[in-house]
Amino acid sequence: MTPRDPNTLANYGDWAVRHTTVDFKVNFEKRRLEGSVLLELESLTDRGSREIVLDTNRLAISSVRLDSSDSEWAVRDRVEPFGAPLHVSVPDGASRGDIVKLNITLETTEHCVGLQWMTPAQTGNKKHPYVYSQCQAILARSIFPCQDTPDVKSTFTFNIASPLPVVASGVPVHTDIKGGSDAGDKLFRFEQKVPIPSYLFALASGDLATAPIGRRSVVVTGPEALEEAKWELEEDMDKFLEVAEKLVFDYQWGQYNVLVLPPSFAYGGMENPIYTFATPTILSGDRQNVDVIAHELSHSWSGNLVGCASWEHFWLNEGWTTYLERRINAVIHGEPQFDFSAIIGWKSLEDSVSLFGADHEFTKLIISHKGVDPEDAFSSVPYEKGFHFLYYLDRLVGREHFDKFIPHYFRTWARKSLDSFEFKQTFLDFFEKYGNAEVNEKIAQIPWDEKFYKPGLPPKPNFNTAYVDSCLELAEKWKNEDYQPNPSDVESFSANQTIVFLQAVQDFSSPLSVERAHLLGTTYSISASKNVDLKTAYYVISLRSGDRQEFPGIVELLSSIGRMKFVRPLYRGLYKADRNLALETFQKNKDFYPSTTKGQLEKDLGLK
Ligand code: BES
Ligand code: ZN
Repeated sequence: MTPRDPNTLANYGDWAVRHTTVDFKVNFEKRRLEGSVLLELESLTDRGSREIVLDTNRLAISSVRLDSSDSEWAVRDRVEPFGAPLHVSVPDGASRGDIVKLNITLETTEHCVGLQWMTPAQTGNKKHPYVYSQCQAILARSIFPCQDTPDVKSTFTFNIASPLPVVASGVPVHTDIKGGSDAGDKLFRFEQKVPIPSYLFALASGDLATAPIGRRSVVVTGPEALEEAKWELEEDMDKFLEVAEKLVFDYQWGQYNVLVLPPSFAYGGMENPIYTFATPTILSGDRQNVDVIAHELSHSWSGNLVGCASWEHFWLNEGWTTYLERRINAVIHGEPQFDFSAIIGWKSLEDSVSLFGADHEFTKLIISHKGVDPEDAFSSVPYEKGFHFLYYLDRLVGREHFDKFIPHYFRTWARKSLDSFEFKQTFLDFFEKYGNAEVNEKIAQIPWDEKFYKPGLPPKPNFNTAYVDSCLELAEKWKNEDYQPNPSDVESFSANQTIVFLQAVQDFSSPLSVERAHLLGTTYSISASKNVDLKTAYYVISLRSGDRQEFPGIVELLSSIGRMKFVRPLYRGLYKADRNLALETFQKNKDFYPSTTKGQLEKDLGLK
């Protein structure tokens, strides 16, 4: 197979990792992982390639052994933004199908972009240090040498020694994460028997406690937040699993658990197998943000079981997942919920398209990634354009028929990676065999190239606006300067409906006056809310209006949360409203933010 992932330096067309064993000690004093990784690589060529090339990024490698003997190796020059390739010579090659074992001794360094180390002060109960990883998209190479491409899948064994409890992206083996001791290390073992790509490697260690949230699920978080986390998730967890299994097929991974991280986490959630990693901002006290969990759970099929072959086809992960997430929520909360969520998504798609420009490469469904850092291409486009492509296919062939394609697709590609062209072929093959003439006539009309390569917004379907009409009507009222608001305006709204209202106000052609913006916040008691999504939507309005009374609250939010969805729009707004305050706030907090958040903010603030 010819490598089709432009974001790896590994020669994965010659060799493929089949099993990975990581032995790491978590050294909190030095802020390093120390240990070794054993890669079992299969030769994919007849004559056997004489060299193995792996991805690395600022690792301290001290030895490389090939099948237990010393071997020649070198870390060559960096190729930005992809890191430095590790070349290991295989003097005798290996025949096709043969396995060689590479044992690499290493430590991570202070430049490790895949790990976030936190002081006790930065954690919930301020007693213990904490570390967590985030490898998607190409950060696994900063933790261990690997074929850092979603096109290769390996099973994993994790042996992690730490003074504090550990979770990793495997099934725990004989560990009791309720324990934990101040003196001496404990060994925590995990097995991942379903092959996974490197970006799903994950671990975290800190003062962790556990509570059940479902038949197959626990939540893990700091002891001080455990009750709250349990309450937020326990109502929906089993329902999500049940509906998802009906839509696709049985859950393949054993347990499905959620690790609620410290607030610096850059994302809402990350679908690490066995333990989804989640931001604590999902604990909004109103169960209004659990759709993040429906989303991450859906990745157990789309992404983790069947995944994109390169980040150019990222929509296969996120578009499918967004589609499944909305289908799940429609079953649990009623059909209009599907459209409500799609309308919110449409707004974020419009925002991304206008931020990049409607002709931009990054607004296509298939995005060229040659020389591109996937972090720079990241936006709601793969999520929403991917969703709209699938929803278009769903409506085109009809729900009853599309629902037969869903399990077929996931079964066909389970434990493999694919690209958009293979998706197309699978779709066409399925419906050809299916043999419904009417459906096939429609399929013949699909403009595949346009769907794959046309930049900008896709055609907008007619949404059911049942849940948004009242939000937009309220926004209309606010266009009139004399409108006298009342707390009862939003009493019947869900938090997400209030967000839709606020987003409509954000888009007014001219901003509200300072007084009106402030009146909005006080009347609807928004600053007092625990829901960060809601507060962010309001603060964007405050910033646009220049309501300085809210600036301290905004700075406080920016100093306590690392989730990009919130901090990026707030910094953009603050930069326009008070450039110095934005820069000063960033300087104070930059080490609190994970590498991804920091890097993107540096660009947003013109520092890079
Ligand atoms: N896999 C993503 C997070 C991600 C994407 C991390 C790209 C690194 C690179 C995750 O599944 C996700 O989409 N999270 C969303 C959740 C939301 C759509 C419900 C988030 O973080 O906001
Ligand atoms: Zn996702």
